[in-house]
Amino acid sequence: MPLLSPSSLYGLARPFLFGFDPEHAHEITLDGLARTQNTPLACAYSSARTDDPVQLAGLTFPNRVGLAAGLDKNARCIDAFAAMGFGFVEVGTVTPKAQPGNPKPRMFRLPQRDALINRLGFNNEGLDAFLANVQKARFRKGGPSAGSTRSPMLLGLNIGKNAATPIERAVDDYLACLDGVYAHADYVTINISSPNTANLRTLQSDEALDALLGAVAERRETLAARHAKRAPLFVKIAPDLDEAQVAVIAATLKRHGMDGVIATNTTLARDAVKGLPHAEEAGGLSGAPVREASNRVVSQLRAALGAGFPIVGVGGILSGADAKAKIAAGADVVQIYTGLIYRGPGLVREAAQALLRDRSKA
Ligand SMILES: Cc1cc2nc3c(=O)[nH]c(=O)nc-3n(C[C@H](O)[C@H](O)[C@H](O)COP(=O)(O)O)c2cc1C
Repeated sequence: MPLLSPSSLYGLARPFLFGFDPEHAHEITLDGLARTQNTPLACAYSSARTDDPVQLAGLTFPNRVGLAAGLDKNARCIDAFAAMGFGFVEVGTVTPKAQPGNPKPRMFRLPQRDALINRLGFNNEGLDAFLANVQKARFRKGGPSAGSTRSPMLLGLNIGKNAATPIERAVDDYLACLDGVYAHADYVTINISSPNTANLRTLQSDEALDALLGAVAERRETLAARHAKRAPLFVKIAPDLDEAQVAVIAATLKRHGMDGVIATNTTLARDAVKGLPHAEEAGGLSGAPVREASNRVVSQLRAALGAGFPIVGVGGILSGADAKAKIAAGADVVQIYTGLIYRGPGLVREAAQALLRDRSKA
């Protein structure tokens, strides 16, 4: 390993970043990535992308490790994440209008458990600013991170609803976002599982999900004809669901022709962090403590959906072994968020290489 590899540099940067309040550290990092992407300074976090292509939902994923939504809500740093070696990057959640999110503080570290709690509440600059940033990204245009003859990195655009939109009108927000992002997305994620927007998770229940997915599927037909491309639709669900709820969701996804499912978002459960500082903060818990519940939902989805239905596994991946466990539970590809905060960009290659080696053994 070179002396100044991305992981050793992150080892130096992490104590500095962890000296700040978590949201401030996040802003410093994203500002740094936005400023340095597509410049020679990007070598501080760049890593050769592992070549391990997999076909899923009609797309070729260049490898099986993606960035989970929420880290780059405004799509400012797509090229920086492309340079880290991700096979796919999901940005958002975007809402139709800009909104400030919940009052601060609203993000907390639980370092004893490699975990975070957040109640950001979809703070974002809104659809227009998001799309302007997406269109500025150069990763598709043969920039330094674009593989020349290899499959390009894929871009997922994750959509949600504004806090001020009543839940009965949620469908309008999803359709407005779908209209906006469709032409620019390799896939679109319908996020109905953030715990930080009042009542959002009720959209996972039978009738509400049926109505939402019916409307989204119908609009996709119009958009597919208009843009002469069929963008896959993924639905992102919570870990706080029992087996019967997972089975109903699985059947509803299939009935409406959804192309994949992302499991899971953060959890409301606190048993794994009881007694730790910040454990009782309201919001979604991510990182190591959500791993078991996420893996359980992934296996239940696989059992309910059968082989061949795309599952993106996310929740608690902090090592190559965790990524392998997620695939073993039934996921086709994986995503990481909290692991990147605790382990740095070296985790992207570690996970992608672990999955590559795992596959070559199979
Ligand atoms: C600070 C923070 C913000 C997040 N924001 C979003 C979001 O806007 N949209 C979304 O779909 N998921 C969001 N998530 C959930 C992550 O994408 C992921 O599903 C979850 O954190 C579990 O993965 P992890 O354990 O690797 O972090 C967020 C997670 C964190 C920690």
